[in-house]
Amino acid sequence: MRRELDRIPVRGRVVIGEGERDRAPMLWTGEAFGRGDEASFGLDIAVDPLEGTNLCATGGPGAIAVLAAAPRGGLLTAPDVYMDKIAVGPRSRHLLGDAVRLRRDPGTNLRNLAAAEGVPVGELVVVVLERSRHADLIADARRAGARVRLIGDGDLSAAILAATPGSGVHVAMGSGGAPEGVIAAAALRCMGGGMLGRLVVRDEADQRRIEEVSRKAGMPAGRPAGTPADPFRTMTAEELAPGEPLRFCAAGVTDGPLVGGVRFGDRGLETTTLTLGSDPPEMRRTVRRRLV
Ligand code: FBP
Repeated sequence: MRRELDRIPVRGRVVIGEGERDRAPMLWTGEAFGRGDEASFGLDIAVDPLEGTNLCATGGPGAIAVLAAAPRGGLLTAPDVYMDKIAVGPRSRHLLGDAVRLRRDPGTNLRNLAAAEGVPVGELVVVVLERSRHADLIADARRAGARVRLIGDGDLSAAILAATPGSGVHVAMGSGGAPEGVIAAAALRCMGGGMLGRLVVRDEADQRRIEEVSRKAGMPAGRPAGTPADPFRTMTAEELAPGEPLRFCAAGVTDGPLVGGVRFGDRGLETTTLTLGSDPPEMRRTVRRRLV
């Protein structure tokens, strides 16, 4: 990914890259790429070169390589902390921030979503990362009667599936990586879906990470709560990924519900990529074969 990015004639910048925890050798947040000069188009990208590292390591389903792109300033520089998220498709988008809120009890949110999706709550499928921090969320969703699909990793794919017609998924809920939240927001905007996201502060280290990223992004200290300069507020997909136009692509690493994984044949390999665009709206799957 890093090598290919340097072939593009842009003045590129990685706004979300490999985080401090991954200790990766490249594609760091802040890294420049592209062969453009000062006069070239300023492109920001958010990448997760391997979303679902554990899935890949264990041969599990749904590991993908993802990238979201926007004109300069079009993607929020999210710190490497957790984010509380609710991701939905076009039918339920209008409920976000109103009948569906992050701070509302999950049962009420799910009942309102079921009405918008046109299904009884007993047929509403909600995807949640299987984590102990989600014990209450899972219990509440089950009490409400919704069908809870637990996944081991990959809440970014889950968010995209919520906006994919025929996927059988209506909503993705719970906390996962904030960088994945921004990338998911870019994809959802291309698909007409919606999202709410709020950064989670678990300890002082999280607080520091958030403050540091906000400072670098030029946000003044002492930001009034709830204003656009407040990094702790609930944000919509439009705030997480405000760029126009947006592009998103996800290439399958292992087979998954979104895209097929890399296939190795006698003469080469085959990859499948899902590409989304916001303007003009675009959604296509491309299969590439490469001799090796
Ligand atoms: P990576 O493979 O990129 O590390 O992320 C996998 C993932 O499951 C994400 O989809 C999710 O947002 C995050 O990890 C959840 O974090 P945690 O495993 O700490 O709950």
